[in-house]
Amino acid sequence: MNISLEAKGKMTGYSKLNRKQRIELLHEIVEHSDLHGWLDSWLHADIDHQKTFENLIENFITTFHLPMGLVPNMLINGKYYLVPMVIEESSVIAAASKAAKFWADQGGFKAEILGTERKGQIHFRWTGSPRWLQEQFPAISLKMRESTQHHTRRMEQRGGGITKINLINKTTEIPEYYQVDVSFETADAMGANFINSCLEEMAGVLKHELATPSDPGSAEVIMSILSNYTPDSLVRCTLECDIPTLGKLSENDSPYVYARRFELANQIAIADISRAVTHNKGIFNGVDAVVIATGNDWRAVEACGHAYASSTGHYRALTDVEIKGNTFRYILTLPIALGTVGGLTRNHPLAKLALEILGNPGSAELMKIAAATGMANNFSAINALITSGIQYGHMKMHLPNILIQLGASQSETEAATIHFSNHPVTFASVDKFLQHLRENG
Ligand code: MEV
Repeated sequence: MNISLEAKGKMTGYSKLNRKQRIELLHEIVEHSDLHGWLDSWLHADIDHQKTFENLIENFITTFHLPMGLVPNMLINGKYYLVPMVIEESSVIAAASKAAKFWADQGGFKAEILGTERKGQIHFRWTGSPRWLQEQFPAISLKMRESTQHHTRRMEQRGGGITKINLINKTTEIPEYYQVDVSFETADAMGANFINSCLEEMAGVLKHELATPSDPGSAEVIMSILSNYTPDSLVRCTLECDIPTLGKLSENDSPYVYARRFELANQIAIADISRAVTHNKGIFNGVDAVVIATGNDWRAVEACGHAYASSTGHYRALTDVEIKGNTFRYILTLPIALGTVGGLTRNHPLAKLALEILGNPGSAELMKIAAATGMANNFSAINALITSGIQYGHMKMHLPNILIQLGASQSETEAATIHFSNHPVTFASVDKFLQHLRENG
């Protein structure tokens, strides 16, 4: 093994090192009296659990902890859930809980699945006649489908499988570029490996079929991969109440003024990209926290959600407000593809627990729960923004973090908690309070 390593420059052979060697090397850039022992202290005490985490990735050094909490009172389609969230940002769980409680009294969240389709594409070049390709395609697609039988058999038993295979001519975008666009149902699995295995198998058939001597052209498969854009794996979540009920949230204004201001806040998030991104980020505060807790791929969920938000060619809020007569209706439409079997959902002990807490839902039910939780967070954020402002509640929740940053002792923390229960929290006010405490004993 030829390893040349220099921690502050380009390294070769790094992946060949064992964990001990990787940590020794870290000593060159991180000052710590017992780096190895300290990194070990974050490992799981149970060796089997530890191995589970260690084997998930490459170049492992330790496990990175994030807090997990629960949102009570999430009433979705008449069923109460205790929703597990994994999130580092203070006030997100409190915000979701506040909205969940308010909306539980108004009948809760109504969530419906508009589709569960996932997709993948074989991207390829074809230099021959488009018409010839189109004519041959039904026979080729039949062979492609047949080739996947050993992958699809089990999936079909679970109600999934390949549902459509289409040829798409993309030559107006890139010369000689075509796609085989394949639709899948993956039952309760995220299905990434299933989809990619099917696509690669089908790509082999495509290549073979387009390479016969009767070919009037030549073909080149560029790549075969699932798409994380799943606009047809879609959930719609609705909140609805009589406008006077909103009076409970708007102490200083009439509920009608509150409803109009809420509507305008949403219109701003539809019209203006700067606001839209932050508005949608507030939705993903809740969505991602559930997605992470249940061992799903939050990067895929985020990428898809933001692409969907710009599917009209203009990035906008994922929500809509409808005010009709005396009724206030708030609607979230979110593409989200989740799994509840396979992958990390069962391998990660806490993801397994999260699914148990939710009553072991199927993927469609989990889509509804994640969307409703995102909506709970977003509703709380807009409610705060159009009434007290966001900092009032946020900074209250942030107090423990500020106290840690300022090195507060146990007794200082207790005194600060009492004092700031009825005083505005800012970094400066907490700093001043501690200084005063320290100076005066
Ligand atoms: C903070 O994490 C999320 C908010 O900025 C969302 C919003 O502004 O709608 C409060």
